[in-house]
Amino acid sequence: MRHIVVFVAVFTMVGLATGMAEDKKPPEKISFPSRQGVVTFFHAKHIDRESGDCTSCHDKLWQQTSEPLKNSQGCHTCHKPDGKAFSARDRSNCVKCHPPDATAASKVP
Ligand code: HEC
Ligand code: HEC
Ligand code: HEC
Repeated sequence: MRHIVVFVAVFTMVGLATGMAEDKKPPEKISFPSRQGVVTFFHAKHIDRESGDCTSCHDKLWQQTSEPLKNSQGCHTCHKPDGKAFSARDRSNCVKCHPPDATAASKVP
């Protein structure tokens, strides 16, 4: 009996902790500085397209922070040739994430 009580207590605590993490209000959009200009990430649209499933990205690709990104590898898990979304390797797509004026004379990272 005591074991069940402990189990339920632990389970509730984990549940609350998880709930708190997911209750953090997701922002509409996040701006990431880069050498290639500011990249605007439409967080809310991305959530809708994942049908509200936070685990597509959290925490396996990113923590729930708004720190500048160290690289765009996480983005490339979907934005790749034959991926879920337009490829970040295709030159005609650079402007979709990077401001047009900053794209002209650049190299693929
Ligand atoms: C398509 C990927 C993706 C999905 C799905 C996603 N997020 Fe995020 N989220 C991000 C990225 C990218 C960041 C920024 C990470 C960084 O800067 O290191 C972020 C940051 C956040 C932040 C921090 C915002 C801030 O201003 O500090 C919160 C809170 C967050 N997400 C909540 C959620 C919740 C809740 C869900 C599900 C309803 C969710 N996210 C789904 C990609 C996603
Ligand atoms: C899906 C969105 C996306 C697409 C498409 C994309 N990028 Fe990026 N790029 C990012 C993000 C986010 C960063 C910021 C993280 C970083 O600096 O690596 C970035 C950073 C960069 C940087 C700076 C890297 C560094 O080390 O400072 C360069 C240069 C760059 N991108 C060039 C390109 C070029 C060229 C293309 C087209 C072939 C492209 N990007 C397409 C999202 C994208
Ligand atoms: C879980 C998969 C996934 C991840 C991870 C992801 N994207 Fe996307 N993204 C999509 C899909 C799906 C679309 C819409 C389909 C398309 O246009 O090809 C999209 C569209 C976009 C668009 C067009 C505007 C919009 O939101 O409709 C931008 C800009 C963009 N993504 C930037 C990023 C950046 C920057 C990152 C990394 C911080 C990122 N994405 C990570 C799936 C993803």
